[in-house]
Amino acid sequence: MAAEKQIVVLKDAPALAQAAAEMVMQCAADAIARRGRFIIALSGGSTPEAAYQIIHGNFSARGDWSKWFIFLGDERAVPADDPRSNLGMATRTMLHGLPIAPEQIFAVQTQLPPAEAAADYEKRIKDFFGYAEPRFDLILLGLGDDGHTASLFPGLPARHEQSKLVTFSPPGTLPPPVDRITFTFPLINLARKVVFLMAGEKKKAVVRQLLATQVNPDLIPAANVHPVDGELIYMMDQAAHG
Ligand code: 6PG
Repeated sequence: MAAEKQIVVLKDAPALAQAAAEMVMQCAADAIARRGRFIIALSGGSTPEAAYQIIHGNFSARGDWSKWFIFLGDERAVPADDPRSNLGMATRTMLHGLPIAPEQIFAVQTQLPPAEAAADYEKRIKDFFGYAEPRFDLILLGLGDDGHTASLFPGLPARHEQSKLVTFSPPGTLPPPVDRITFTFPLINLARKVVFLMAGEKKKAVVRQLLATQVNPDLIPAANVHPVDGELIYMMDQAAHG
């Protein structure tokens, strides 16, 4: 099956966050109904953060939380209690107080050197899926103003990784200037559904480049996302769409 690609434009950032939260909950319900569990990779960044808050605030009672398995599509090489940690952000906004056991949350071992942390995360993903292909039900992604997604930055080698599921990267040009551990494009492209969340006027130029027919994926790494047998959804607000 070829990838289905959809563009969804919401009127503003709050409407985008609401729609994204509803999409996550629906995707979880569908995955649990079909396969008995929901395997999601969360993204860092400001746009997903607003959606996480809505999931916590509006949908806590609706989730079948014992069936969720939560990974990070990328993580900054800082401890989980550091304000820059993606897991820290997801915990503060969404996961706190939800009935999710620690074994359901797969934190990157950021106390290890980045290369080891990446190898360890890849091993834990492989162990989790066992003999099955590592297909996430949902991978949430942001889009950096420089065209990066996850921590796959323009000009840096991680974006070309073809054999590993998880790799590491030095920081790109955008803050914070810390090393990263990141899913690779081959892992992202195995997912059943990949959703980009993009908001605000400052994303307009890069969104236009990403959606152009002649996009150069080397300059706009996010253009390497095209699930081999899954859906690709670009969700954005009107300001980002232009
Ligand atoms: C990170 C992210 C990164 C982010 C984009 C978009 O750890 O920084 O996972 O890929 O999603 O930079 O972030 P904004 O939505 O804040 O612009």
